Amino acid sequence: MKRVVVVNGPNLNLLGKREPHIYGSRTQEDLQQVIEDRASRLGLEVTFFQSNDEGEMIDFLQREAPGAAGIVINPAAFAHYSLALYDCLQALALPVVEVHISNIHAREEWRSKSVTARAARGVITGLGFAGYEFALEFLATNQ
Ligand code: DQA
Repeated sequence: MKRVVVVNGPNLNLLGKREPHIYGSRTQEDLQQVIEDRASRLGLEVTFFQSNDEGEMIDFLQREAPGAAGIVINPAAFAHYSLALYDCLQALALPVVEVHISNIHAREEWRSKSVTARAARGVITGLGFAGYEFALEFLATNQ
């Protein structure tokens, strides 16, 4: 069975409470359910991880991603400045899909720049939780 890692960055643990007009009213547990349902329909095994800490995200990726079929990552604010996360994704040399729940190009100007996106095959932004599902579908069927 193909295995995929799904990683959420800082403050995404607050989904449901955090700026619901931007991120919606569903929680991170709801998101995990959406991911698990879609993964099982696609025949994928998924390991989900969320952290507010850059180093923990990198440690998780270094430990769990080798051997996986790909990575779905919402780096959250780290997308905008974490060169360490970018280096980590590059080093892993796996297909990466970067996901943002909101449309980062339709918000503050500084959000439109993602330094981690350069390490990704593609970026899905603004499609809500469905972005994670499309990313899984891509990793299940293309590579
Ligand atoms: C986000 C967008 C980022 O700009 C922001 O810092 C987040 C969430 C999104 O999913 O829309 O925390 O990655």
